[in-house]
Amino acid sequence: MKKYILITGGAGFIGSHVVRQFVNKYANYHIVNLDALTYAGNLENLIDIEKESNYTFIKGDITDEILINQLFKTYRFEGVIHLAAESHVDRSITDPLVFAKTNILGTMVLLNAFKNLWKNNWEGKRFYHISTDEVYGSLGETGLFTETTSYDPNSPYSASKASSDHFVRAYGETYGLPYVISNCSNNYGPNQFPEKLIPLFINNIIEQKPLPVYGNGKYTRDWLYVIDHAIAIDLLYHEGKNHDTYNIGGFNEWQNIELIKVLCQQMDEKLGRPIGTSEKLITYVKDRPGHDLRYAIDASKINKEFGWQPSVTFEEGLSITIDWYLKNSEWLQNVTCGLYQDYYQKQYK
Ligand code: NAD
Ligand code: DAU
Repeated sequence: MKKYILITGGAGFIGSHVVRQFVNKYANYHIVNLDALTYAGNLENLIDIEKESNYTFIKGDITDEILINQLFKTYRFEGVIHLAAESHVDRSITDPLVFAKTNILGTMVLLNAFKNLWKNNWEGKRFYHISTDEVYGSLGETGLFTETTSYDPNSPYSASKASSDHFVRAYGETYGLPYVISNCSNNYGPNQFPEKLIPLFINNIIEQKPLPVYGNGKYTRDWLYVIDHAIAIDLLYHEGKNHDTYNIGGFNEWQNIELIKVLCQQMDEKLGRPIGTSEKLITYVKDRPGHDLRYAIDASKINKEFGWQPSVTFEEGLSITIDWYLKNSEWLQNVTCGLYQDYYQKQYK
């Protein structure tokens, strides 16, 4: 008997890498990918595995309680890996309500369906909630986020993710629901929608458009290659301790402006442009409201318990990522036509 596992948000950036990892590796699982295909969801991300016999795609919204209850009844999911979310901080500033709806209510609908199905038989079941380091708020110049750092979210996005984390824990405490949560740092890699820093700047460099650096560019993020995140998710789904939480990060902090300079240099080399060409596109623009100064993850728990660590250096991962975008110009064109242009005008006007 195959085990049915629900992966939500599997047509998005990280979700598509997680779906591929599970479909290719586990013939004994049947993976059901539920995704609403918002602007961020793209089935082109999964063309290579879409015909596999252990994979099913369903277009649907995690806030649709009737649909979700029906799906749990039909497939009797023993595991849930929950990635579906509104994920972009800038969009959460202009339209916070949809973040509350999808990220909080959507998570609760899934928790409820899982609880109602398995409440008398939790043995062998698992609800894995994918969260973010942004729930911890902002660090100063020093220090690291650990699993015991207090939650202190600053953006509507991080507040909605923090809230969803709390509901997962509350279902664990109240109903005994078996869960694992992981809080990861900034991901980068193939298939990321070009609203986030790295793919947006890659696209703008290709098109020789300005590179809009928020504020003074001295904000710091900890970057992790997306496939290393997918590997960590696979590990924690199977080995993570019940009712526990794990930080995942790249041990790889960069000030935005320094990262952008490395990106510019690699792009110049790959595009055969004189070194310095792309850096000239750097344009300092108005800061993001409530901009968190610094995120940095202490990933020693997952490292010590399971030996997990990033498999590529940042320079290697960035190079693979740039090559992917240059090779997949059609993917990039498809996602940047239409509504993307309206978003871009409003965000960077
Ligand atoms: P993404 O925006 O690329 O993908 C989100 C996916 O969720 C899309 O396919 C979208 O169609 C789907 N979705 C959105 N609303 C939905 C709804 N109501 N019902 C069903 N599907 C819906 O996001 P991502 O960057 O891949 O992030 C995935 C998860 O990982 C999110 O929960 C995010 O908070 C978390 N996370 C992201 C990062 C990062 O750096 N990108 C880091 C840490 C954690
Ligand atoms: O830390 C994990 C989080 O990382 C995830 O939970 C989020 O889903 C993900 O979007 C990401 O959030 P950030 O806000 O850190 O990522 P973003 O790529 O939007 O921005 C990275 C940094 O670059 C941040 O300091 C803002 C800055 N930036 C971003 C954009 C889009 C710019 O300077 N200019 C830009 O145009």
